[in-house]
Amino acid sequence: MGTFLNERALNLKQGAIRAMFDKARNFPGSINLGIGEPDLDTPEEVVEAGCNALRQGKTHYTANAGVIELREKISQYLSAQNVDVDPETEIIVTTGGMGALALALMVTLSPGDEVLIQDPQWLNYYSQVRFCGGVPVPVPVYEEYGFRLMAEDIEKRITPKSKVLMLNTPNNPTGAVLEYEDLVAISNLAKKYNLLVITDEVYSTLLYDGMEHHSIISLPDMKDRTILVNSFSKSFAMTGWRVGYAAGSRAIIDKMIKLQENLVACVATSSQYAAIKALDTLDRASEMTEIYRERRDLIVEGLNSIKGISCLKPKGSFYVFPNIKALGKTSEEVANELLEKAGVITVPGSAFGAQGEGYLRISYANSLENIKEALNRIEKYTKELAL
Ligand SMILES: Cc1ncc(COP(=O)(O)O)c(C=O)c1O
Repeated sequence: MGTFLNERALNLKQGAIRAMFDKARNFPGSINLGIGEPDLDTPEEVVEAGCNALRQGKTHYTANAGVIELREKISQYLSAQNVDVDPETEIIVTTGGMGALALALMVTLSPGDEVLIQDPQWLNYYSQVRFCGGVPVPVPVYEEYGFRLMAEDIEKRITPKSKVLMLNTPNNPTGAVLEYEDLVAISNLAKKYNLLVITDEVYSTLLYDGMEHHSIISLPDMKDRTILVNSFSKSFAMTGWRVGYAAGSRAIIDKMIKLQENLVACVATSSQYAAIKALDTLDRASEMTEIYRERRDLIVEGLNSIKGISCLKPKGSFYVFPNIKALGKTSEEVANELLEKAGVITVPGSAFGAQGEGYLRISYANSLENIKEALNRIEKYTKELAL
């Protein structure tokens, strides 16, 4: 009978992170430092707001772009970051950041368009771009520069087919945060080569050591060539509510809204009301960030005390990207052995691109107690390697 699937579907593969979790099911008692999701609960008042919305009969479709009260709140929230967007025409509420990324890529990419993506990078970018017919072009980032994406490395890979540049700051998997000067240099490049910038800022509240979040969209003449993506998932521990947003170029947002009408109509109404409450309780996000900071300090210090492992102290998100090259094995071998022999789930750096080889992605969205135990297990594993 053959297959009814098209070529794009046939090329869809399970990501390496999910594959690791499937494997981990055979190792009960493992400590999960692989997952990119808060272990904390959604703040109580946000849960209440979602439940109240349901009780009050807010159980119907909303505007395709999302309820206007939420778009207004988002607009106010962004204006505090010097981002000036009109809630009526320049914001769309989406099914998480992922929904925003997918819509943005679907309405902008034509077959063969090249998309500049840093390497290593959260792998969904690569599969989303390919599904839309685009061609991912990896731009390496280097540990020596704190894994920050450098304008000169982007410029070397620009061709006449380059159309989109994807940014992700704070970053998954490295935890790197782009500085204001990095963004200025990158924005100049975007203007020089007429690139659209999709800036994924879903970890924007997870910043440490006094770092401030800057968005490239706030720089001169960038709004019409930028789509800012953000989400409630990480900042407010709301992954299951599936609510995020995109803001920026009116022409692109307009088409994203029309596509959303055709795909999912709108985001779950109760989730949108919960998100309004989240933006009213920003101090909850700061409290969570402080919890992650303590865990980051513990894990960085612990990893650096283990022979064969060295780890930068990232300024954002909830991941560390330790260098394991001295262990003398591939990152996939180390991740597999850590699971099988030590009962610790991590993700091999190579899953995030060729440049990630020699590193592991470790998430510290887990309790201090579990992190301590995981560090003990990792140390025991490395000692058995008798380096
Ligand atoms: C860099 C990055 N962007 C976007 C997302 C999407 O998150 P959500 O769709 O839950 O907002 C994730 C989730 O892991 C992520 O790591």
